[in-house]
Amino acid sequence: MPMVADQSSSTSNLFSLQSHILSEESRHPGASGDFSWIVSAISLAGKAIAHRVRRARLEGALGEEGTSNVQGESQQRMDVIANEILMRCLGSRASIAVLASEEDEEPTILRRGHDGGKYCVLFDPLDGSSTLDTNGAIGTIFTILRNDPLIESAERTVCQPGRQQVAAGYILYGPSTAFVITTGSGVDLFELDPFVGSFIRVKQGLRIPPRKKVYSVNEAYSSSFPLGYREYLEWAHHSGYSSRYIGSLVADVHRILISGGVFLYPPTLTHPDGKLRLLYEANPMAMIVEQAGGASISGAVATLDVQPTKLHQRVPLVLGSRDEVDEVSRRL
Ligand code: AHG
Ligand code: MN
Ligand code: MN
Repeated sequence: MPMVADQSSSTSNLFSLQSHILSEESRHPGASGDFSWIVSAISLAGKAIAHRVRRARLEGALGEEGTSNVQGESQQRMDVIANEILMRCLGSRASIAVLASEEDEEPTILRRGHDGGKYCVLFDPLDGSSTLDTNGAIGTIFTILRNDPLIESAERTVCQPGRQQVAAGYILYGPSTAFVITTGSGVDLFELDPFVGSFIRVKQGLRIPPRKKVYSVNEAYSSSFPLGYREYLEWAHHSGYSSRYIGSLVADVHRILISGGVFLYPPTLTHPDGKLRLLYEANPMAMIVEQAGGASISGAVATLDVQPTKLHQRVPLVLGSRDEVDEVSRRL
């Protein structure tokens, strides 16, 4: 029985993110290579952001920028730096029509009309950035959509249901720098080898365990959660669950991707539609979780089926192990 080598063992073939994407591309005859270019630009941005994040305190780049973004949230200096790095890495890719960021009110139109790019790229340049001052794990979240040259408005072009995402992923700046991506046929994990300067593939086809008695929610707001969420927490408190909450979506989702559990960001008094943004936080994470065998809901519907109407719209989010999400959804 041939052994299936663990990708992280020293004897398996070495695949960088670049060679992985090119080998994926070779499976699609007629592929133009445009998509690979975009992923390589995101990989370059991730390495550059990782470098700046790890030097932020040394370079005096922590703390607030003194401005607020369209969300009315005060921007961290590193939010602005990460946003600029992504714009500079992606702006040169001819295959991109529109870029949109959590940090910018309007989408950035690079090329539209019939000579426009084939794709739109949306991102949260630095997620969980308020935990950076305390050396917490933070990340970059991205999603790739097809461009529709017939739609005039850039915002309407990117307001596509999550099921239409071509690819989704995140980069986690933790003790290691991890790159997670799905293009619709499973979820793959890469780790940055700082000596080689490449993201090295360490796991393919990640699967989330169907059950795990760990929930992840900011319980400080629980008195304002709708009744169903409070009933779920009351049940969990008496069913042997433990709680883990980092307050950085990328870090909380990565824990669930690797070891299972359920993440909840319900509607609250201050965020009656939920806090997390549909297009560049909830949808990419929902695609990753579903591709790994988990589930993601926003209220009564699957997150990926929500029809967006605004670039920065927010949704409630419950995602993770399939059976754990069911325990929540049956009470909503
Ligand atoms: P961002 O830093 O991009 O604004 O995202 C922060 C989000 C998300 O990372 C996390 O799950 C959530 O805010 C935590 O919110 P609370 O601090 O309200 O728990
Ligand atoms: Mn975020
Ligand atoms: Mn952010």
